Amino acid sequence: MTIQWYPGHMAKAKREVQEKLKIIDVVIEIVDARIPLSSRNPMIDDLTSHKPRLILLNKADLADSQLTKQWVQYFEKKNFAVLTVDAQLGKGIKDIPMKVRELAKPLLDKFRAKGMNPRALRALILGIPNVGKSTVINRLANKKITKIGDRPGVTKSQQWIKVGKEMELLDTPGILWPKFEDQDVGFRLALTGAIKEEIFDFQETIVFLLNELKTSYPERLKERYHLETLAEDITELLDDIGTRRGCLVAGGLVDYDRTAEMIFRDFRQGKLGHISLERP
Ligand code: G4P
Repeated sequence: MTIQWYPGHMAKAKREVQEKLKIIDVVIEIVDARIPLSSRNPMIDDLTSHKPRLILLNKADLADSQLTKQWVQYFEKKNFAVLTVDAQLGKGIKDIPMKVRELAKPLLDKFRAKGMNPRALRALILGIPNVGKSTVINRLANKKITKIGDRPGVTKSQQWIKVGKEMELLDTPGILWPKFEDQDVGFRLALTGAIKEEIFDFQETIVFLLNELKTSYPERLKERYHLETLAEDITELLDDIGTRRGCLVAGGLVDYDRTAEMIFRDFRQGKLGHISLERP
């Protein structure tokens, strides 16, 4: 679900996250593996600086695996714990409790030093809309938890879900807003479904995608649209793709809207292969 963020919403979302953080030992931040920086709110670092944090690079099944490896190294260099996950199929999910334990070792040691039996660790899932928070929660819970609207202010009573013996997870995630002051960040969010594509000019979004594909995945473009060469000029490239695919209007001219929609669909359905839109 994509929502509009107004300053009031943002302030409220921040307050709600801060409130949840008070009862939490470990934060599990979810980002989209295809756009690991664009799919996080920069404020998260400040908000959660006092908590151990595990970053999940989710939707890894859609991302470029070579780049995902580089992103893992990128975050590890910054001293984050990081896991690559495909929540839809459940890949990587079983490693989460172990990582959470590793992260919370100082806390567990503190309990033991006081002669207390360590209690279950309390974790919170946090991220912008559509990165897969509910899917991860459902996977960890091993059942379907009702999803609330991605809307600050829409609250339901929160409950702890037991994940094994040593971890408890809040059944409602913390939701932060996407930040897209930079236009390219907005294009990446629109292409991956974090924000509605209508927020951005659709043609411009596709031009951004074509430029990315031309630079980083030229062979995929050639293969998918049966092109021998890729035109320098993006309008010409759109022309070539539209012509090849028969997206034409009367008179044999290329229908740019239909061509752009087809490219967008191909990208979303993974027909252009595993593609990441951001490099470390
Ligand atoms: P949210 O709570 O963070 O808002 O995200 P949610 O779990 O609802 O997931 C958003 C969409 O992403 C869902 O698709 C979900 O199935 C998909 N998704 C989650 N994790 C993965 C993953 O690892 N791989 C892939 N390929 N997809 C994943 P949806 O319900 O069809 O929504 P939409 O895609 O139509 O927006």
